[in-house]
Amino acid sequence: MSVKILRSRVLSFISEPQNIDDEQSYKYFEHGALAISDGKIIDVGDFENVKKQNSKAQIIDHRPRLLMAGFIDPHIHFVQMQVVASYAANLLEWLNKYTFVEEQKFAALEHGEMIAKAFFDELINHGTTTASAFCSVHSNSVEAYFTEAEKRNMLMIGGKAMMDRGCPKALQDNAQQSYDESKALIEKWHGVGRIKYAITPRFAITSTPEQLELAGVLLKENETCYLQTHLSENKDEIALTQQLYPMHKDYLSIYQHYGLLGKKSLFGHSIHLSDDEKSMMEQSNSVAVSCPTSNLFLGSGLFDLEQMNKAGVRCAVATDIGGGTSYSMLKTFDEFYKVQQLNGNRLNPLKSFYMMTLGNAKALSLEKNIGNLEVGTDADIVVLNSKATSAMALRAKVISCLSEELFLLQTLGDDRAIEQVYIAGVAMK
Ligand code: GUN
Ligand code: ZN
Repeated sequence: MSVKILRSRVLSFISEPQNIDDEQSYKYFEHGALAISDGKIIDVGDFENVKKQNSKAQIIDHRPRLLMAGFIDPHIHFVQMQVVASYAANLLEWLNKYTFVEEQKFAALEHGEMIAKAFFDELINHGTTTASAFCSVHSNSVEAYFTEAEKRNMLMIGGKAMMDRGCPKALQDNAQQSYDESKALIEKWHGVGRIKYAITPRFAITSTPEQLELAGVLLKENETCYLQTHLSENKDEIALTQQLYPMHKDYLSIYQHYGLLGKKSLFGHSIHLSDDEKSMMEQSNSVAVSCPTSNLFLGSGLFDLEQMNKAGVRCAVATDIGGGTSYSMLKTFDEFYKVQQLNGNRLNPLKSFYMMTLGNAKALSLEKNIGNLEVGTDADIVVLNSKATSAMALRAKVISCLSEELFLLQTLGDDRAIEQVYIAGVAMK
């Protein structure tokens, strides 16, 4: 099997940085290299050592760029690329006026196929190598999404939105149909190549109790699948949810009642949680997925990372395209930083870059495969250029350490800072 060496500076996180000076939380090789074979990382360290061990390897010189694990986006809507930048007062108006209209187009397989190409191009351009996506209610949209993911050999999670009320008839399935179609998609796609299935009841407002019950049955029958949904994003959404489910004491209790909580359950937004709900999240090892650009764009609220960390809740951060406004995890963390500022908290750049790589990988229980550059992990890698624009290059002249470089990348960076992207060892950008 042929070996390839990527030569440049290498940064890989080992654990969550406790502060901006926490050098124990990462490995950094100023004169570094990664050796790749058969889609996996087989060596990492100082260039001279890696070269000695792999003397026949082809060398690709990326100096002086920064090599990191590819970025992970754990909540994005594949079917909302043409919804981004829709003018609405709040979540429910945005859903009804634009999103539920747009998603109807995905009944046609050809539309999904066209969007899937654009979607994966966009992810790669922005340095995102793994994502968990909501497809539409139509199985066709899932087919288009996974077919394209498989073509590009990407580790992608996704699933058919289960929705049997609270939206236009053209977007409704029914409880049994949503169970049957999701089950068929799991059987066809889960575990094919690098693909993983997420059982996807959209949110409580668009599901009857019967549908949530069957989503719970499906999850129990398929414990290696994920569960993704939305939770406590917007105050009006929470009020409507409680009207629809008056027998439950709060929003999360609904999902708990139907067996939807757990280590592989991803709850998008999770902004306005009570102490009881946070404790339920913590007890069940469920994951809160914050979506800062979306929350600011729709005026939904400010996710408080420090409070969630204090409560012991597992947290991740995502784009939420098309409520979100950027495909870039760099821009997403730029906004996440500002949201924490408004909460009176500081988010140091080491922790930001930890979260967009290893942190999000842990949230998806995938840290053995992605999110870091340890030997044996998948060779999903981004090559970052902190001088990608004239403004960045000028600012970079007065930078004196790694954390300053990361903060610059986060604050001024976007797709232009992503010079190359490797998917399982293959250059894709
Ligand atoms: N809640 C239910 N569906 C959606 C969606 O598509 N986007 C966002 N941001 N919230 C939701
Ligand atoms: Zn969402």
